[in-house]
Amino acid sequence: MPRYAYVNGRYVPHEDACVHIEDRGYQFADGVYEVIGCVHGHFADERGHLERLERSLSELQIDMPVERSVLQFIMRHLLRLNKIDSAAVYIQVTRGVAPRDFKFPKGVKPALVLTCRSFDFDNNPALAKGAKVVSVPDQRWARRDIKTVALLPQALAKQKAAEQGAYEAWMIGADGVVTEGSSSNAWIYDGTRFYTHPSGTNILKGVTRTAIMEIAAQEGVEVVESGFTLEQAYKAQEAFSSSATALLLPVVQLDDHVIGNGEPGVLTQKIYERYRAYIQESSVNGGQVAWTA
Ligand code: PDD
Repeated sequence: MPRYAYVNGRYVPHEDACVHIEDRGYQFADGVYEVIGCVHGHFADERGHLERLERSLSELQIDMPVERSVLQFIMRHLLRLNKIDSAAVYIQVTRGVAPRDFKFPKGVKPALVLTCRSFDFDNNPALAKGAKVVSVPDQRWARRDIKTVALLPQALAKQKAAEQGAYEAWMIGADGVVTEGSSSNAWIYDGTRFYTHPSGTNILKGVTRTAIMEIAAQEGVEVVESGFTLEQAYKAQEAFSSSATALLLPVVQLDDHVIGNGEPGVLTQKIYERYRAYIQESSVNGGQVAWTA
C-alpha cells in the first residue's frame, strides 16, 4: 500500500488523504486526470502526458494548478516518499471547491491530487500469455479526447469484462467500429499493417499510441489510422491494447474468437520490446515524442 499521497500542497499519509465534499470533481466529475508509468525510475512519455494534461485542462477552462516543473518535482518526490521506482502515478486536477452550482465558480483555485501505486511492469501475467478482451457498446459522451474523471461508462465496461473473465473491454461505436479500450487504445495487425482508430473527439489520443506509431514507422511497419470493425478484428493476425500501465498488451482472444494462433503476436512483442527500450532512452535524454491533439 502506498504510504503518502499529495493533496493540495501537502504530502499526507494515504489513509488520511481526502478532498472536500464540495469539490467539483466529486459533485460534477468536473476535472481531468493523467496516469504516467514510471518503469524502474524512468517516467514513460512524461512530456506527452503533461502536454495532454495541459490540453485537457485548457479544453475545460481550468488553470494548471502549478507550473509543469513543479508538478514534475511533486511526481518525483511522491515516489521517493513512497520508496518505489516502478509505479503508476495518478495526477488529478478538478475545478476546485465551491458551493454546488452547475456554472463555473469565480476565483476558485483548481484542486490537485497525486497518488501512486507500485506497478510491476516486468511480471504482468497478461503480457506473457496475452489477454482476453470482450466487446461492449461505447456509451460515452462526445468529447472523449479530454481525459476527464467522468469514467462511469468505462467502469461499467470493465465490470462487464471482468464478469466474463476478460482483462479489457473494447468499445464499439454506433457505426460498428471499435473506438478503443475502456482504458487503452485498440490495435490490430492484418498481416500487412497496423490499424488503430483515428484521433479526434471519438477517442482519447493515447500518449503510448503516439510513441508506438513512431516506433512502428522506424520498424518499417505501416500504421493506418482507420477504424476497424469487430469482424475485421476477429480475423486479425495480431491485436493489442496500449496504455500507460499496460504498455503494449497482446490480445489473444476477442469475444469468442481466438486471435491469430492464440499467442501474443510476434510483431506486437517486437514493438513492445522497442517501446520498453524507448522508455529508458527517452527518459534519460529527455527526447520524448511530443503529444499534440
Ligand atoms: N488510461 N483510451 C482511454 C479511454 C484511456 O483511459 C487510456 C489510458 C488510453 C491510453 O492512453 P495512454 O497511452 O496515454 O495511457 C486510451 C489510463 C491508463 C487509465 O485510465 O488508467
